[in-house]
Amino acid sequence: TQRLDQEARDIMIRNDRGGYSVPTHGLYPYQWNWDSAFAAIGYAAFDMDRAWIELETLMAAQWHDGMVPHIVFHEVDPGYFPGPDIWGGVGPVPSTGISQPPVAASMALRLWDNDPEMGAERFLPMFDGFVRWHRWFMDWRLHDGAVCITHPWESGRDNTPDWDGAMANLIPRDLGEYQRRDTGHVDASMRPHKSDYDRYLTLVAIGHEARWEQGALHASWPFRVADPTMTFILLRAHRDLAELGRRLGRDVSEIESWIPILEAGAETLWNPELKTYDVRDTLSGEWSCCVSNASFLCWWAGIDRAEMLPHLRRVNRAVRFGVPSHDPESPAFEAKRYWRGPVWAMLNMLIAEGLDEFGYDDGALLRQNTARMIEENGFAEYFDPITGAPAGGQNFTWTAAIWLDWAS
Ligand code: DGY
Repeated sequence: TQRLDQEARDIMIRNDRGGYSVPTHGLYPYQWNWDSAFAAIGYAAFDMDRAWIELETLMAAQWHDGMVPHIVFHEVDPGYFPGPDIWGGVGPVPSTGISQPPVAASMALRLWDNDPEMGAERFLPMFDGFVRWHRWFMDWRLHDGAVCITHPWESGRDNTPDWDGAMANLIPRDLGEYQRRDTGHVDASMRPHKSDYDRYLTLVAIGHEARWEQGALHASWPFRVADPTMTFILLRAHRDLAELGRRLGRDVSEIESWIPILEAGAETLWNPELKTYDVRDTLSGEWSCCVSNASFLCWWAGIDRAEMLPHLRRVNRAVRFGVPSHDPESPAFEAKRYWRGPVWAMLNMLIAEGLDEFGYDDGALLRQNTARMIEENGFAEYFDPITGAPAGGQNFTWTAAIWLDWAS
């Protein structure tokens, strides 16, 4: 494993563009929001200063309204589509107009724990920015206390079957000819379909036209889905941000007031028929009726529900490497297609840690299983859960980062 530790460090260093990391060369040539948060904990294993810088460059792209964008386009790269001109972001640095799961506060707390000397000094200038970002979610993304996404990319789980219903209800615009770049980097069978891209780009066009003014977009937005990824991750991030604030001696009453709102919101994602945390389309009221890897972020959020552990064990028994991003017993399961089945190491990290916190040894088992998958197959973006075959981009920052976090 020493060789793999070295390889993981080399990947991180190669993906470092000086102050920010790209997820992988070619396919994703910019700074991605949650990728960067995971990158920070990878750097923490060998370069603490660089770890803090990763979060600092991300927060420097924060918009005036508090939003921290999902992609920061530091330097234009024609190898990626859709780029800054299509998005028309209005922040201080060219960016997209949507956010991504806010794991950053939780990763900042880990950095602080690793680096108690520098923790306060490095986090203090960022604290208010984090509060404004979390408040932005509370102001613009809640539905009965559950956190919604307004674009499939906002959740990070781009093409999960969870929003097939909401996507089918979304009428795509005629966008004319456009050239995708992702399928020039990886095999099309591992990526979303063109019908998905037509809808992704339709949503971008609507936001761009409104200059991403949330007040104007709120009422008419054609895609609004209450999502466990966002709800559980923001709930955990509120708890961690409150802890960071207490350490800094700040008033955290506002942050603490958000926690019960999201706890109640999480319960609105409980699908009583399927007995799982599920996705709900707020526009149609329909459940997705899907067990996904995001359903298992409940423990990470501090919620233990008796029915969830049997689901986890069932889906993991059906594959060689858990946790599949979609239920292998569902007809929509596809082992290699991005979020419709493959395993993602960074979600496994959050799931495993949540399980640990509730004293379930399933967390340790999941980490072992994931580490073996990486040993056998390298630092891929995601993996086929049945065979472990690497899929998507290679030499991937977050997979390397998680390996280093576990090794250190
Ligand atoms: C992509 O380009 O596929 C990304 O997932 C968007 O965040």
